[in-house]
Amino acid sequence: MTAKNTRGGFAAHVTPPPIEAVAFAPASVGNVGVGFDILGFALEGFGDRVRARRVTGESATGSATESARESASVRVASISGLSTRISLEPERNTAGRAALEVLRLARAEIALELEIEKGIPLGSGLGGSAASAVAGALAANALLKKSLNPQELLAASLAGEAVASGATHADNVAPSLFGGLQLIYSLHPLAITRVPVPAAVHCVVVHPGFELETRMARAVLNGQVPLEKFVRQTASVAGFIKACMSGDLELLSETLRDDVIEPQRAHLIPGFEEAKIAALKAGALGFSISGAGPSVFAWAPSEASSRRIGQVVKKVFLQRGLEPTVFVSSVAAKGARIVAQKRAARIVAQKRASQRVLKRASQRASR
Ligand code: HSE
Repeated sequence: MTAKNTRGGFAAHVTPPPIEAVAFAPASVGNVGVGFDILGFALEGFGDRVRARRVTGESATGSATESARESASVRVASISGLSTRISLEPERNTAGRAALEVLRLARAEIALELEIEKGIPLGSGLGGSAASAVAGALAANALLKKSLNPQELLAASLAGEAVASGATHADNVAPSLFGGLQLIYSLHPLAITRVPVPAAVHCVVVHPGFELETRMARAVLNGQVPLEKFVRQTASVAGFIKACMSGDLELLSETLRDDVIEPQRAHLIPGFEEAKIAALKAGALGFSISGAGPSVFAWAPSEASSRRIGQVVKKVFLQRGLEPTVFVSSVAAKGARIVAQKRAARIVAQKRASQRVLKRASQRASR
């Protein structure tokens, strides 16, 4: 299934669109160890929020007014929360860039103002730039007369994500937008599919408490992969997908491994090897770097096990003088969604009036 065919929650408006909407997009773990740039899953409980407010708009008849056409734009009004050292320039801000792309794809000549609330630490490897891009795209989309389709929303979110990482990879954007574990099985054209995860599997993520820039963590990578490693990694990806589809935890633990990227990035995370040994000894099915790092993650056969693994990994990072934070999550978390919206007072009044008329009509009919 391509994202083009993925429906759900992004339908077109039948009433005039809201004038303000707040979107939430979850954090995510890219790569999942074995699938560099092609696998990622959404995390539960934390993410970024973007509030989009319409500043000028299309006329009631649907055609853009002259003044609106002149001022079609996105302004990033504020950034609050865990990371505020982010550009307010829309072209250099992942949410701003994604919202601009939504307007461009929809040919909507309206002006928007964004307020970004970062719930994901900057440079943590937890998909913060992707979550802001997704939330920016979704919030902007909620204000359109005709919503974009999921494939277009994915494209707009990717354009936003590229601002931060300097590359277009969907392994954070896809799970943040659609939830669950997502596999990218075609790059051009982009095609994704959701992969089921065995019900028992739980995840733990440990953020060691320092920042690592994705651009830098990508720059350390060697573009050449020895043939032997390439074959082993390809087999692991295939085995990992088979394990997920069949619920085979033994195969999962053999294949959730990264022979190519992890060895090149491990030195960027103090205590990584020690943390990995401790996690596997504590029962992890697999352990690797979350996205470009420095966060690390493990999959475990139960929630209790993921909590134990979190504590042993935390201990290793504490011994290194770091300030780790542990997050325990399911692997099947929901994707981005609109969490609040506001309609123009006139529309709300009209809607209430028509609801009153309908209620009176149904009362008359039941007499
Ligand atoms: N797949 C990406 C990487 C994720 O590992 O560089 C970072 O956003």
